[in-house]
Amino acid sequence: MSGEHLEKRGLHATLDDAQVAGKRVLLRADLNVPVHEGKVSDLTRLERLAPGIRELSDKGAKVIVLSHFDRPKGKRVEALSLRPIARALSAVLGREVAFAEDCIGPVAEAAVAKLHDGDVLVLENTRFHAGEEENNPDFSAALAKLGDIYVNDAFSAAHRAHASTEGVARHLPSFAGRLMQAELHALEQALGNPVRPVCAIVAGSKVSTKLDLLNNLVTKVDILVIGGAMANTFLAAQGYDVGISLQEPNLHETARTILKAAAAKGCEILLPLDVVVAETFAPDTPSKVVKITEIPHNAMALDVGPETVAAFIRRLPEIRTIIWNGPLGAFETKPFDTATNMLAEAIAQATKEGKIISVGGGGDTVSALKLSGAHDHLTYLSSAGGAFLEWMEGKILPGVEALSKGFSNMG
Ligand code: 3PG
Repeated sequence: MSGEHLEKRGLHATLDDAQVAGKRVLLRADLNVPVHEGKVSDLTRLERLAPGIRELSDKGAKVIVLSHFDRPKGKRVEALSLRPIARALSAVLGREVAFAEDCIGPVAEAAVAKLHDGDVLVLENTRFHAGEEENNPDFSAALAKLGDIYVNDAFSAAHRAHASTEGVARHLPSFAGRLMQAELHALEQALGNPVRPVCAIVAGSKVSTKLDLLNNLVTKVDILVIGGAMANTFLAAQGYDVGISLQEPNLHETARTILKAAAAKGCEILLPLDVVVAETFAPDTPSKVVKITEIPHNAMALDVGPETVAAFIRRLPEIRTIIWNGPLGAFETKPFDTATNMLAEAIAQATKEGKIISVGGGGDTVSALKLSGAHDHLTYLSSAGGAFLEWMEGKILPGVEALSKGFSNMG
């Protein structure tokens, strides 16, 4: 249950319901961005956050940004300070952003006290305190003391039941931020209440890491496309010789159980018909396309083949909604990005033509779709990794659930 449904049912509120002028707004963002040599190397999360922050600031809120960064494990680690990320956020916003060297206590309180309406302040990494990940009630109360209302705009951290994502919502009137709202809306469209037929594309290296996801999807979608190395496990489980391909022999029985469950639920599973194989895994290594019945003993499958992609693309006209997690091949090493790129292009085209709703997300998927150039043309590309996967697994995300509880703090 999410986004529009919750909104319609009034279980959680958005910025449309909040009076923020002159208020101290504690905004949980996800500033956990890739940093190389002190510089943010991918601004996507900051760019996605910026409109929500600008909106609050323009409405006269004092915006106090809370976030974790990386995993300092409850201790102050200078290399994991949010200071350089606050600078990057300032550049993205095109506005000044103040920084406080702690997220609770006198330092944070003094920085908040200095704010004027419309100002933006970033507080230091919440994970410098053990209370954050422990969801310690005193730590949550110390955070809550800094704000009048709480806005959670960190869908990508909503699978964590931490003080800044869950605990603080018990203390303050709580609202979904604009990015949270957009993510929930997209996921609701893709999986919660999709226009059917709905197709999920699930790929990646291991069945073992996506078991819950596969088990949930076979009960929800009409067509399930399985690609990546995880398809090798399914092929091997059906008796195909997959040579030296990456696969999980101990999961053959599980794979067969998933295939049976899918058949019982009327979920059609599409597996590769052909694959691109090589004897070694290296850039531009000699490779060839073979049928799945002809994988050489000394070769590994590194991408799905052109016949498979063509077969998937032929099915697109009958599909109304697509949710995509995981690249179809070893996309970071050419030419094993070919199938992912071809399918991404076809999905982007169908989306542009208004024929399908397409939502992608989760870790490598975003990188793969960016490399394909199709990312801008999907209906929605989630900025979440683990949270997107847990949502696809059908789990309740504590950060989202807390918002409906926080609603009751509004009195
Ligand atoms: C993410 O990048 O997926 C989130 O910020 C969560 O980070 P975590 O896995 O360290 O909790």
